[in-house]
Amino acid sequence: VKHLVEIGSLKRADIEALLLAAKTLEDYPQRARERLAGKLVLTMFFEPSTRTRLSFESAALRLGARVLGFSDPASTSTNKGESLEDTVRMAMSYADLLIIRHPEAGSAQRAAAVSKVPVVNAGDGSNEHPSQTLLDLFAMYKHRGSLDGVRVALVGDLAHGRTAHSLVRALTLFTDVELTLVTPPTLELPEKYMQYALDSGVKVHSCIDVQDALPKSDFVYMTRIQKERFKSADFVLGDAYRLDAKKLASASPSLRILHPLPRIDEIAEDVDATPFAAYFEQAAGGVPIRQAILNALLVPMLVG
Ligand code: NCD
Repeated sequence: VKHLVEIGSLKRADIEALLLAAKTLEDYPQRARERLAGKLVLTMFFEPSTRTRLSFESAALRLGARVLGFSDPASTSTNKGESLEDTVRMAMSYADLLIIRHPEAGSAQRAAAVSKVPVVNAGDGSNEHPSQTLLDLFAMYKHRGSLDGVRVALVGDLAHGRTAHSLVRALTLFTDVELTLVTPPTLELPEKYMQYALDSGVKVHSCIDVQDALPKSDFVYMTRIQKERFKSADFVLGDAYRLDAKKLASASPSLRILHPLPRIDEIAEDVDATPFAAYFEQAAGGVPIRQAILNALLVPMLVG
């Protein structure tokens, strides 16, 4: 059984195949119809979500699959103390694929270890969020054509941001990539991901203020403080990690701002109307990307 637990399980060719499949499904939505007819997809969300759950559900429904699930763990037996493994052992007999979001790092791997049907990690604590990364790459690929030579600034909470972790790992598969890290001193990218980047030849820079990263970047990947994942819940993000239209005044016309969303205040609303804002379009790519993922896991011969 194939799972999508961490981005590191994919090779460059797998990622490229998924991006191409997503582009085809976006351009020819009628090709999605009935492809997964008769399949059942189960969404198990132990943590809040808007985009990830709804875009997975939309993707599944548009492929002709049916969807069941929960988004409020308080209403499940987890609340009575049931282990994740036991919940999965039962859930796998109810559906053909499980999409799981859970607050503990490593939970998706634990689920995959006991599941006889594909498991998709929709975010496990501060660890990884591989489907988000595929949609981040999709946005970059559509804007720029190639991921080789891409220059990405990663801004904000890179310590706890699982989307940043998976993105760094994915970018190590491409050539001549440059990363510029812009983080508060206590929220730096964990050593493990820094090592993946360096070992694969990614050039890593850092900047004190996001403004200084703009001329060195094709994409600025903004993130919010993951306040639910660490003690200092009242951490205040400094201006150096925030963007507004004024900071972007002299940016290159081809620069694009990405954000996994939800945004809090790290991107001022006056950026939305500028040509740099690509985050809502990025989020819209979530449906075709997730269609491509479901398709690849449930109709294996289409993976190639
Ligand atoms: C992200 C997540 O859940 O990690 N959201 C998402 O899925 N688009 C980012 C975040 O919550 O900050």
